[in-house]
Amino acid sequence: MSRTLFVTTALPYANGSFHIGHIMEYIQADIWVRSMRMAGHTVHFVGADDTHGAPIMLKAEAEGITPQQLVARIAAERPQYLNGFKIQFDHWHSTDSPENVELSQDIYRQLRSAGLIETRSIEQFYDPVKGMFLPDRYIKGECPKCHAKDQYGDSCEVCGAVYAPTELIEPYSTLTNAKPLLKTSEHFFFKLSDPRCVEFLQNWTTGENTRGNKRLQSEVLAKTREWLGHGDGEANLGDWDISRDAPYFGIEIPDAPGKYFYVWLDAPVGYLASLKAYCNKVGIDFNTLLDPNGSTEQVHFIGKDIVYFHALFWPAMLKFAGRKTPDQLNVHGFITVSGEKMSKSRGTGISPLRYLEIGMNAEWLRYYIAAKLNSHVEDIDFNPEDFIARVNSDLVGKYINIASRAANFISKYFDGELRYQGDTSAVQANWAEAAERIRNDLEAREYGRAIRDIMAQADLINQAFDTAQPWIVAKGLTDADTEKRTLLQDICSKALAGFKALTVMLAPILPALSHRVATELFGMNRDFVWSDAAVAPTRINAFKHLMQRVEPSMLDALFEPPTVATPEPQSHIPGGEPIAETITIDDFVKIDLRVARIVNCEHVEGSTKLLRLTLDAGEGRHRNVFSGIKSAYQPEALNGRLTVLVANLAPRKMKFGVSEGMVLAASHADDKVDAGIYLLDPASGAQPGMRVR
Ligand code: 2FM
Ligand code: ZN
Repeated sequence: MSRTLFVTTALPYANGSFHIGHIMEYIQADIWVRSMRMAGHTVHFVGADDTHGAPIMLKAEAEGITPQQLVARIAAERPQYLNGFKIQFDHWHSTDSPENVELSQDIYRQLRSAGLIETRSIEQFYDPVKGMFLPDRYIKGECPKCHAKDQYGDSCEVCGAVYAPTELIEPYSTLTNAKPLLKTSEHFFFKLSDPRCVEFLQNWTTGENTRGNKRLQSEVLAKTREWLGHGDGEANLGDWDISRDAPYFGIEIPDAPGKYFYVWLDAPVGYLASLKAYCNKVGIDFNTLLDPNGSTEQVHFIGKDIVYFHALFWPAMLKFAGRKTPDQLNVHGFITVSGEKMSKSRGTGISPLRYLEIGMNAEWLRYYIAAKLNSHVEDIDFNPEDFIARVNSDLVGKYINIASRAANFISKYFDGELRYQGDTSAVQANWAEAAERIRNDLEAREYGRAIRDIMAQADLINQAFDTAQPWIVAKGLTDADTEKRTLLQDICSKALAGFKALTVMLAPILPALSHRVATELFGMNRDFVWSDAAVAPTRINAFKHLMQRVEPSMLDALFEPPTVATPEPQSHIPGGEPIAETITIDDFVKIDLRVARIVNCEHVEGSTKLLRLTLDAGEGRHRNVFSGIKSAYQPEALNGRLTVLVANLAPRKMKFGVSEGMVLAASHADDKVDAGIYLLDPASGAQPGMRVR
């Protein structure tokens, strides 16, 4: 029975380019969609840019352009990635669109009529200079727990404490450095704690969709159970704050001047907006397609970080707005690169565009990612050696190899004609069964299992070919050797029938390659569908080279450090401590730094930390300086070395004697971080007494 599916991937924020994590999700969804289409189902696969919210507004402002201009610039980049990786959305839209305004406002009005919207006054930090309420990420201050300076408004990066921005000591706005004021404002809430919502979500998360399948993976369900209580009504669902005050780049809340929907309210509505724009373009009736009692299946592919929004807010919004609710959430983990975690805004070391620019084949990545994915919420790792091995040994070495070995005999001796000895029905039944197994695995998102299965079949085909030794059969073959000719043709025809079947199975993963195999090698005038796997081919055209192996040097080029660094502003603290307050050059010249030679260095009896340095700073006398570098240096190693001395520091009387200055050394702020201590070292040629400026 033919099905109709509405499939989406998470809408990417429109303030940055795609990174490998986006591409992974799109490849996962695209494979699924292509497989469904090959089975004869109708799929509407749409995406859009997620455009609203404070970060995009402020970034545009910083660049001196409008948010719309920023969004348009990013949107213009999208096709080169999507086309490059053969990701075939039917339509790409924007949440900053008339369709989204209308749908978001409609949904809101319906929720309000259902009695699920409430207003409350809340107190929030406000930047009096900028004239706006501050999202948590734009407030910093001293951590109330560990007193680390310059910590974000929601959590401390040093000690990990989580708190409210109002708990920060000496808070400041990162936008203007102003001290934020507490100010009251009226906010709109979606009453998720309403018993109707809780009951609906308990049923929706645990129940089955119209196909009798679970809507959520088991690990996702377990998460939602934590949030919803265990069906005993003890849910700890808070109401959801869905409004933001002007200035905000977003959609206006009806009948509430100066109030906008929080970006996460209108973002998922963007799925519907994109579908609606697509429907209008191609003449499909949107309302019929998404009839709450209709049979269209709504499937969302998302990452594990946004489950809360998609498993709670989104279905509840749709339900109580009288709309169709999602049928399936397909949640994936993150992608790491050589075991390194990725930052959401900076991506990993792999740039998808660079991958394409250096001429790497998009289908290598599609194959590799597919080989790693399963139906669980597990992270996957991109590992360069593993990538090379899987592409070169498996994809090219096992699968492509079948065609290149068998096709030449058929062209040379049989003018492209395939013929099988005896009854082919058993062979055909075998391929039909294998294709059905793979199709089921792909539908269940067990891509890695499907690929292992396909490669095991490629092994069998290659083994049968090797055992039959067609190169020996073909030795000195003449037209008169009918028996040998029949045998040779049979060996190669069976191998090519296998190659065709495997190509059908790989078609969702390798769309361009399978297109070439269908049209160039087998002379078809269309792409493969699932049922083609079981049809033994009768002819081939001359074999043309199908796929290159990966050059290991390509991976080196892929990981070359980017020429333009894109640091995330203030996202981490260099050396464990923020850069100190700005000083003027006049402040700086007050510090007299001199090159000094360490003429002697020795242990200090009774001290675990200090070394005693005797320094020559070109003054015609020696200075005695104590330095806390014992953990890093043996005294002998420093004898004779140059370093830098703070020469005008007031002498300090210490337990072991007077210290006449200080030498400079680099270290991490937190001495629990074992990063070492590094004495500064002027380049050779510097003379004691020279000033450092
Ligand atoms: O996390 C994100 O990148 C969001 N832009 C995802 C939005 S998905 C949907 F709700 F639009
Ligand atoms: Zn802290």
